[in-house]
Amino acid sequence: MSRAIVVYSSKRGSTKQYAEWIAEDLDCEAVSITDPRMKGLNLYEYDCIIYGGWIRGSGIVDFDKFGKMLDDELMQRLIVFGVGMADETAENYAQVWGYSIGKIDPKNENKAILYILGGRYDPDKVEGFDKFLMKIMRRVLLSGSTPEAKGRANFMKDRIDNGVDMVSRENIDSLVKDARRKLA
Ligand SMILES: Cc1cc2nc3c(=O)[nH]c(=O)nc-3n(C[C@H](O)[C@H](O)[C@H](O)COP(=O)(O)O)c2cc1C
Repeated sequence: MSRAIVVYSSKRGSTKQYAEWIAEDLDCEAVSITDPRMKGLNLYEYDCIIYGGWIRGSGIVDFDKFGKMLDDELMQRLIVFGVGMADETAENYAQVWGYSIGKIDPKNENKAILYILGGRYDPDKVEGFDKFLMKIMRRVLLSGSTPEAKGRANFMKDRIDNGVDMVSRENIDSLVKDARRKLA
């Protein structure tokens, strides 16, 4: 029987929530990348491998670590999802892809699939280094000079300052369909 697995990295729960919903739909396990079970995990046992991580500075957190477990054969079974608060524009998608799948398969030869899912951001819950990083990102964002960049920046500034919650179960529908295709 075909099997799937979901591995995830989540700091404040939204990525974990998506991982659990996907695992429920596919009737498989969702394992945090920090779980001790990761050590004994044999990815060759799975026909569909799903990795989800929260997005920080356009990078999918811990994908570098997970990527080390992959070769060409496993990449062909891979679906990645990043969870963030930016809108899924072509520019954002390209950037996130470039920092994740693009780093290990720059020509996309293995056709790994990337989804970006709407996350949750609550400024009151962010602290320490993340808070500092967000302050810098906000400043860089607002330094954009073209009118288009300014418009987009104001939109993001509002989300950074006031928070946003885009987490919804429907967001996983296409990903689950792709996963079922890999399992068929
Ligand atoms: C320091 C920091 C940097 C972030 N950078 C990005 C980013 O570059 N792009 C984006 O879409 N979201 C960014 N976010 C938003 C998070 O990815 C979003 O809140 C996500 O849902 C968090 O996932 P979690 O609840 O699983 O931890 C950032 C959040 C923090 C705290």
